[in-house]
Amino acid sequence: MSTAARDKWERRYTAADYEPIRTPSAFLKLAASGLTPGRALCLAAGAGRNGVWLASAGWQVTAVDISPQGLAWCRQLASEEGVHLETIEADLTQFDLGTDQWDLVTMIFYNEPALFPSIRQALRPGGHFLFHTFSVHQLKQRWGPSSSQHLARHLDLQEGFGDWDWPRYDDDDFPREDGRLESSLRLLATKPVTRNL
Ligand SMILES: C[S@@+](CC[C@H](N)C(=O)[O-])C[C@H]1O[C@@H](n2cnc3c(N)ncnc32)[C@H](O)[C@@H]1O
Repeated sequence: MSTAARDKWERRYTAADYEPIRTPSAFLKLAASGLTPGRALCLAAGAGRNGVWLASAGWQVTAVDISPQGLAWCRQLASEEGVHLETIEADLTQFDLGTDQWDLVTMIFYNEPALFPSIRQALRPGGHFLFHTFSVHQLKQRWGPSSSQHLARHLDLQEGFGDWDWPRYDDDDFPREDGRLESSLRLLATKPVTRNL
């Protein structure tokens, strides 16, 4: 169990002045709007903005996070929106994603390339991996994470999913609602239907 990660995020989500962001990832909204809803697994789901949006769009959502309070926020946001999602408290570095059981797996503002092989296996043929996270170019923006562990690299996505279709891919600077620029990698990759892993 990554107790450092759990403690850090528990502190954040239990802070008296913490207000969950309700707006989903702009890339999730754009890319998932064109998909047929099915079973979605939200990795590192946080306070639930993305999972709740997916549930509202008709997906059957399972949200996984290491932080119990993050998952409590997920359930609260879901209840406020009148939708349901399943929550699982787990350390993703030790979590079994299963085999051929998800139509969509999301990894949003969480960078863990070591999970890519498990994600490939966990998706059904024709299923989608949706990734949206700060890239290494975020450093030039002078805000946000600076540790290389949290900054995604094109090479990792290429090695992980280079042999799949990429209906959407961007490695660029994007304006955010608060006026700041975000450098991020955004990928929608589709598991082939006809070939094996
Ligand atoms: C920056 S937040 C992103 C939350 C959400 N994906 C979003 O976009 O709003 C990162 C999340 O990763 C979770 N996390 C960090 N390490 C984790 C681990 N080893 N296993 C599961 N969740 C983890 C944290 O608890 C936190 O909720």
